[in-house]
Amino acid sequence: MTDVLVVGSANADLVVAAERRPGAGETVLGGDTTVLPGGKGANTAVAAAKLGADVALLGAIGDDAYGRLLTESLHGAGVRTELLRTVDRPTGIAYITVTPDGENSILVSPGANSALEPDALDGAFARVKVVVASMEIPLPTVERAVAAAADAGALVLLNLSPVAELAPRTLAALDVLLVNEHEAAALLGSGVAPGKLLDLGPRSAVVTLGARGALVLTEDGATEIAAPRVEPVDTTGAGDAFTGALAAALATGVTLETAARKAVRVAAISVTRRGAQPSYPSAAELEGR
Ligand code: RIB
Ligand code: NA
Repeated sequence: MTDVLVVGSANADLVVAAERRPGAGETVLGGDTTVLPGGKGANTAVAAAKLGADVALLGAIGDDAYGRLLTESLHGAGVRTELLRTVDRPTGIAYITVTPDGENSILVSPGANSALEPDALDGAFARVKVVVASMEIPLPTVERAVAAAADAGALVLLNLSPVAELAPRTLAALDVLLVNEHEAAALLGSGVAPGKLLDLGPRSAVVTLGARGALVLTEDGATEIAAPRVEPVDTTGAGDAFTGALAAALATGVTLETAARKAVRVAAISVTRRGAQPSYPSAAELEGR
């Protein structure tokens, strides 16, 4: 039995620190480039596996050095890659600017991720407890993954980042919709209470609130979970750390609120270190805190 199957992207993150991000027509000089394993799907898988879950990633990479960087990081964390395809496109690349406040801006060139067609999903969802779908792969693949995972009886999570317009039946098939505040506003219109997310169809939802923690929405009501106060160095992939930790905890059978309490702590640790995957804590580190 697989605890967590992640369907999503894998990217090489080309990260540069800069005093500020360039505007249109402007050139800004930054620091040296670091190349780190990233991508929302791979990040989520690594976060869950580091916490001890049995995790597989279904995705696509190219036959190149960045693809090998990703495979190494996934294997290093214990993520299974038998459903990770190598396709005839370059591995996805994310161009990431990090400013002194720890905030990032990201431009993604999806490459191989855009070749992840729905047929890659055939037969993938048997004997899986929790399926996490994330974006940066073709939308029909995301929608098919959600439907097939629900049919197979798995618990289905979707991290809707970046936000996209989904078919109502996709939203209705979700056990947990995961969004940040901006994505919630894009779905509902600004000024609409996030509690309205459940009107879109998912059985529950979690809104991540950055340094303020997270909001858990279930049919029983809304619960706010505060985050530990930390000094942010790099927030890249904090949402993916949250998602992976949430999925790993849900696979052990705890409630959504209990899982979200753990996920908030995992995401908080991740922002204190550079990069996405390399910044995620192990189960041992989390317990030691
Ligand atoms: O969520 C962070 C991730 O977004 C980065 O690792 C980058 O690859 C982009 O996918
Ligand atoms: Na980080």
